[in-house]
Formats: sequence, C-alpha cells, structure tokens
Amino acid sequence: MSQKISGVKGMNDLLPGELGGDMAPVETWQFIERAAREVFSRFGYGEIRTPMVEDTALFVRSVGEETDIVGKEMYTFEDKGGRSLSLRPEGTAPAVRAYIEHSVLNQEPLTRWYYVGPMFRYERMKTGRYRQFFQIGAEALGSKEAAQDVELMDMVVQLLEQVGLKDVSLNLNSLGDDACRPAYHQKLVDYLKSHREQLCEDCQRRLETNPMRVLDCKNEKCQAIVKAAPNILEFLCEPCKAHFADVRRKLDVLGIRYVVNPQIVRGLDYYTRTTFEFIAAHPALGTASTVGGGGRYDKLLKALGGPDVPAVGFALGLDRLTLLLKEGGQKYSAPPDLFVAVADEGSADAAFALASKLRHEGLKVEFDTRGGSLKSQMKRADKTKARFTLVLGQAERESGKGQLKPMAGGEPIAVSLSEVAQAVRAAGQGTAGQG
Ligand code: HAM
Repeated sequence: MSQKISGVKGMNDLLPGELGGDMAPVETWQFIERAAREVFSRFGYGEIRTPMVEDTALFVRSVGEETDIVGKEMYTFEDKGGRSLSLRPEGTAPAVRAYIEHSVLNQEPLTRWYYVGPMFRYERMKTGRYRQFFQIGAEALGSKEAAQDVELMDMVVQLLEQVGLKDVSLNLNSLGDDACRPAYHQKLVDYLKSHREQLCEDCQRRLETNPMRVLDCKNEKCQAIVKAAPNILEFLCEPCKAHFADVRRKLDVLGIRYVVNPQIVRGLDYYTRTTFEFIAAHPALGTASTVGGGGRYDKLLKALGGPDVPAVGFALGLDRLTLLLKEGGQKYSAPPDLFVAVADEGSADAAFALASKLRHEGLKVEFDTRGGSLKSQMKRADKTKARFTLVLGQAERESGKGQLKPMAGGEPIAVSLSEVAQAVRAAGQGTAGQG
C-alpha cells in the first residue's frame, strides 16, 4: 500500500461546512474577508497583491536582523539561480518595496492600501499560532499626522464591529523616535542588566540583541521585573509627546476606547512613535490573544532606499479572528434555496436542465449528480438543509407544474415549472439567490 502524505506541520487546510476540524469553516474566513473589503473600501483603501516570496534582504533590512522573525522564523531558501529568497513573514515590507519600486509617490501623495493573504513564520505552534497564517493588513503612506494613525485604528474598530466581535481592547503606546529613544534604551538596558539573573534565558539573550523585547516577554518572572522598568512614555521628546497626545485626543474625538500600555513594543524593528495592539482575552485563543497590531514606521521607506515618506499600518491575524467567531457558534454559510430531485430515469435530463436554469436565474440549487433512488436523494436533500425540494417526474414534465415542498414543514406550494425561481423568492424571506 502507498504511504499517506500529510500536510506540513503548522499549515492548515481550510474546509467548507462542518469538515474543518479545529479550524473555523472556510465560510467564516470568507465572511471576515468580505467585511474587511467592504469596510476598507469605505475608507478609500485599495487592494494590493504582492508575491508570497521576496528577496531575503528585504526582511532582514526592515523587520530587523535581531528579531525572532528574521533570526529564527523565516522560511529562507536558495532558488535555482542562487538567490536567497524568503516566504514573506509579514506584509509591510513587501508593500513598501512595491511602493518604492513603482514610484508611487510621484503619482499620489497619500497612498492607502490593504492586503489579505498568507504569511509564513517557523514558530512554535499552538492554538492561534501557526506556520502559515493569514493576515488582513493595511498601510497608509504619506501622512505623518495623528489623524492617519487614528483612521487606521478606526478601521479596525469598524471591522470588528461589522463582524460582531466585542471585547477586544485597543492597547496604545509610543516608541519615540531617533531623537528620544536612544536615551530610553540606555536607561532600560541599565535597569535590566541590574536584574539580569532573574530574567528568563531568552530575555538574557534579548538583553544583548533587542532589549525592548524583554518588555513584552510572557514569562511571569520577567513580567515582574518589567513592571518596575523605566517607562518609554516618560522619555518622549516634545514632538513625539505632542504626536502621542494628538493620537489620544483624536481617539477621544471618535469615541474609541483604548488603554495606554507602555509594554506594546512589537516584534518588528521598523516602528517609530505610535504602536498599538488589539487584544482579545478569550479562552479560545489561549496566549495567542493579540488579534492585531501595528504602528508607525516613518523611517522605513528611506532605510529601504525609497523617498522620505512617513507611514503607518496594521495587520490583523485572520486565523485568530475566525477562532473567535467559531467560538460564537454562528454559521456563515447560507443553505441551498432548493433541492431538485429526479423521480424516474426518464426525467433525469429535464431535472438536470431545470437545476441549471434555476442557477442561471440566481438560485442556490442542489442536485445529486450520482442519481440514485428518490429516497437517497431526499436523504441528501435533508443533509444539505435546502429550504425547498422539488421532485421532477413524468407527471410534472407532462403538466409543466410541480410542487415546492418546504423542508421545515408546512403546505407544499404549487408552481409552474417555468416560474420556480420567482416562487422560491416569493416564499422566502428575501434571502433566495443571495447566498
Ligand atoms: P505582527 O504583530 O507580527 O505585525 O502580526 C500581526 C498579527 O498577525 C498578530 O497580531 C497576530 O494576530 C497575527 N499573527 C502573527 N503571527 C502569527 C502566527 N504565527 N499565527 C497566527 N497569527 C499570527 C505585523 O506583521 C506587521 N506587519 C503589522 C503592521 C502593518 N505594522 C505596520 N503595518
């Protein structure tokens, strides 16, 4: 017997209906994606689709060599031409690369993009943390103003509202800039060094490579030390302080609730000033409770050889959002409007043609292509949860009339075979043909 081949660890199959196992059904994913496209387009954001693979140097120079993402988690390989390529671990660097490559600044001074797609990180897996995962992200390039930061946060808030997710809290911070961060950095390193022995092994290493990451370590012992660490917000220079105050004021103007959390340092090196995370403390996510994060990266474009353009963005973890909705138990797939069944062999082609015609007319129609007895077809009709069935046999073909049977019970409706779609629509609650 041939050996079975399994999928790659940490990379999930997304299946429709009830088949999905631990993952949410694909309809839940589609529901969120549809909502994101709708909400983001209301804000004037256009979609970009960049390749899944980029030059490795792009991520090394943007996300940062010392980050876990680049240092430990990238899927990097050499192609047949000897180039070092990486599966994208995130979407900001590719968006910026595309912006620079297509000289977008020359064409529009304010650019707003969004993207939906898979990202890859070789992470330690658990619920809500995978090696292929999906992000819905947005980037706004060309505005340094606080209004731009807040517009993005508003967009997330409106999306969460649209898909019905509550209890997600916005955590806000500022990381300062080149003028004020170095002094803070030094203070933090001094403090952490004086507690080096109490830090976890990872943080002892981080202390040398990326000390700010100690601030968001989940280890309890590290958290206790971090509690008394110097606070970045007390070190902000005047312009950064003013920007942060402006962000807070504009959040208030929109009535968006948030908490200031100086530990939101993020796992990528490109941030300056505003950083934020959306956190859902829900058991379905375990410790993978951050459903999205983002911030400003005013220096990144220049660092990648582009123009000096300020920018800000975020990305939401689609896997995590779907897990939250799955937990809510709601179904996002509409049942078929109609099941067309064949009563006798001689009616098979007519029934097949009728199903096709009704689909042309916009109905969602099930038809059992395996044929089989009427009984087995009706069993399948039950399983599909179709709203109506229509059995087509010789009598119906001869009279041109049939009966729409409501599957939930109730009186059958007599219909002319040429007006089935109208009858289904008239009998429905306005849902027919829209699912
Ligand atoms: P990030 O915080 O690395 O930011 O990722 C954003 C979100 O992606 C996380 O909050 C989480 O929900 C989800 N995520 C990350 N890793 C995984 C994983 N292994 N499994 C499942 N979900 C995951 C960024 O990627 C930045 N590019 C965001 C950004 C855009 N900043 C500015 N613009």
